[in-house]
Amino acid sequence: MVHYIIVITLLALGLAPHCLSSKTVGGGYLYPQFYDHSCPKAQEIVRNVVAKAVAKEPRMAASLLRLHFHDCFVKGCDASILLDSSGSIISEKRSNPNRNSARGFEVIDEIKAVMEKECPHTVSCADIVALAARDSTVLTGGPSWEVPLGRRDARGASLSGSNNNIPAPNNTFQTILTKFKLQGLDIVDLVALSGSHTIGNSRCTSFRQRPYNQSGNGQPDNTLDQSYASQLRRNCPRSGGDQNLFFLDFVSPIKFDNSYFKNLLANKGLLNSDQVLFTKNGESRELVKTYAYNQ
Ligand code: HEM
Repeated sequence: MVHYIIVITLLALGLAPHCLSSKTVGGGYLYPQFYDHSCPKAQEIVRNVVAKAVAKEPRMAASLLRLHFHDCFVKGCDASILLDSSGSIISEKRSNPNRNSARGFEVIDEIKAVMEKECPHTVSCADIVALAARDSTVLTGGPSWEVPLGRRDARGASLSGSNNNIPAPNNTFQTILTKFKLQGLDIVDLVALSGSHTIGNSRCTSFRQRPYNQSGNGQPDNTLDQSYASQLRRNCPRSGGDQNLFFLDFVSPIKFDNSYFKNLLANKGLLNSDQVLFTKNGESRELVKTYAYNQ
């Protein structure tokens, strides 16, 4: 209630809500100070639990960041990804991009449990996921940003949205760009956000065709460095080993830096969707170079 009064007062004073770096979502305003009065410790709680989880397992930072991405691309950033199947809900956890892959749910559950003790029924799971993604980025050495808050949690999920909206690693450059555009994101967003692959892991099954048979002629991808390809073949066999893990950025897999972009210049991007940013489009190629040359 207090928040609405603040926003209404600002509007009455002729101050556009963008003074609060707000965004409209479902008719409401998001702004970083949303919980300042109702749950002043909200951001601190998220930061502490995320820090503990990442200290225990560095990869968790990557997993939490990706959770936010996979949440936002389906019905907006509404925590729909967290819902389990029940009644009419078919969980997004079952989708192709998420099955045996999306992780970090226990960390979000733990944050929510602490949050409910501190300020019951106040902080949305969607905001928790958004804050956890930011904190994970900062903890691994990446940039920080202010998170507008006040998201409302979904009461439904969309399995088809999860399957269709989230780009797949073997999608073409154009398909991936189109999927970003459908979310209101552009080519700069695509290249910059793909930079998240500077941390975290991929399973063998997500890139297997590249070191073996990229285009059906039994030959490796010719945009894949051949010594890197033979390294990949060692742990990602032609068949089997689907769940074997590989670093998305083999140079500094738990550091949020620009080596992901440097790898693309050296034809050492792991996923097809990574390497195409450098090989399939002039504008994105230039962006990759810009980020590779400048931390
Ligand atoms: C551009 C289109 C994208 C595609 C096709 C894509 C695809 C993938 C795939 C296939 C994996 C490995 C999953 C597995 O094998 O289990 C992965 C991991 C990851 N993705 Fe993406 N991704 C994209 C964009 C993004 C964006 C925009 C973000 C965040 C802003 C992101 C963050 C991550 C992170 C951090 C991981 C590692 C997760 C972990 O280690 O648990 N990705 N991605």
